[in-house]
Amino acid sequence: MQASYIDATPPSSASPSRLRKMVEATVDLRRKDTPKGLAFDDHASYPQPESPFEAGMQHDLFGNTVTTEDPATIGAINHFLREVLGYGNQSAGIFAAAGAAPSCALANAYAASLMMFMETGNAPELARPFLDAACAAPAPSTREALYIEATKAWVEGHPEAMVLKLGEIVQRYPRDLMALKLGQTLHFLLGDFEGMLRLSNHAIGAASDVGFAHGMHAFALEQNHRIPEAEEAALKALSLERGDPWAQHAFAHTQETQGRLDEGIAFMRSHADTWEHCNSFMLTHNWWHVALYHIDRDEAGEALALYDQRVWGVWKEYSQDQIGAVALLARLELRGVDVGNRWAELGVFLKARVNESVWPFNDLHYVYGLARAGEEAGVREKLARLQSDAHSVDPYVRRTWTEVTVPAARGLAAAGLGRHAQAVSELKPVMSRLQEVGGSHAQRDLFDLIYLDALEHAGEIARARAVVQKRIVDRGHIAWQHRVLARLH
Ligand SMILES: [Fe+2]
Repeated sequence: MQASYIDATPPSSASPSRLRKMVEATVDLRRKDTPKGLAFDDHASYPQPESPFEAGMQHDLFGNTVTTEDPATIGAINHFLREVLGYGNQSAGIFAAAGAAPSCALANAYAASLMMFMETGNAPELARPFLDAACAAPAPSTREALYIEATKAWVEGHPEAMVLKLGEIVQRYPRDLMALKLGQTLHFLLGDFEGMLRLSNHAIGAASDVGFAHGMHAFALEQNHRIPEAEEAALKALSLERGDPWAQHAFAHTQETQGRLDEGIAFMRSHADTWEHCNSFMLTHNWWHVALYHIDRDEAGEALALYDQRVWGVWKEYSQDQIGAVALLARLELRGVDVGNRWAELGVFLKARVNESVWPFNDLHYVYGLARAGEEAGVREKLARLQSDAHSVDPYVRRTWTEVTVPAARGLAAAGLGRHAQAVSELKPVMSRLQEVGGSHAQRDLFDLIYLDALEHAGEIARARAVVQKRIVDRGHIAWQHRVLARLH
């Protein structure tokens, strides 16, 4: 999952009334800019399906009907759709649009969604005023009502209901690419790659003229190990929209999976000119992929420079920026690189995460980062929070929390604190189930690397050898793995 769509620093923690004021202040502030400040060009260039004229209806840039009579509102919605699907840094304009159009259900549901993408513990409270406005808006269409229900399920922590509603939208309205994006993001966070592909399979025929659809399909194909098709879909997307960073990202994964490090670096660097308008997640994550190639080429210095210049520092309070930073520092350190005081600096921001739990994948990174930063009290607090939340989360994900997330968090904390035997005993039973915590294959590979390191330090050499031998079968191009194997003999 997975994205910062907001170009502003999120509020950390505050009382509900203060949060409401903050949201209202945001809306009021931005409303002043809306009429002239933001040019809500919809850039619509897609053929519109034949739709009968309906009073009180407009069409979005993909041809879906929207219940509003206001051209400015549909302009704002189209701008938002392009920003979200293109991972731009101007999507926050939807807050002003929603505030200015309280009777537009979809604008308000989209604003609520954007708040939820902040991935903070208080995001549901921030989203609630927009969700309430969406629910109170008159006469939403069936598509809009389904999207509101999906957003409500998100805000209230019911992922199964969210999966069902988004799946229904994509099936019935395959050109609703916002529903496809959100649905794929959710399946990704639940570790359900087949679900991601099922959704884009529904959409791709009806939206074959839209580059974003091919980019989303490409990443789903890649995560399902259908690499040649993924490459083809990513390149198709880029032929329609060269600057689609998600399609570039899908292509980056295909190169990483195949060990095509030189091609991956060349491809990504040749598209980096299009990333400057990206939100912090996409900007830092695409550079993170470049850093990964360099690490596997034994160019740790390049990767460390990318950490300092590109991966860490765009929006230090944002979840996905923090996750990328933890993952990159950890990989460098596991290769024997001295990362200096970077953990301590990162730990300052991770401490803000100890009293929340949003997605297991995020939390596993936070807990390891806190441990590496030497924040033992923060680690203890975080583990206690995860343990307690595991019993109150939606039943749909409860087993993953209790049987995988909590022991994995304890194991990663122990590994980060240098307690290798404990790390091994906690991680060993859950290694085969880590897909359930979400994230991409490339991202979750970090946990395998940490486990391998713990095995070696705990003296479990035979088991460590088995892990590295399997890694060599999958990715024999990485010279470092052969060095580790030689060391373990
Ligand atoms: Fe990625």
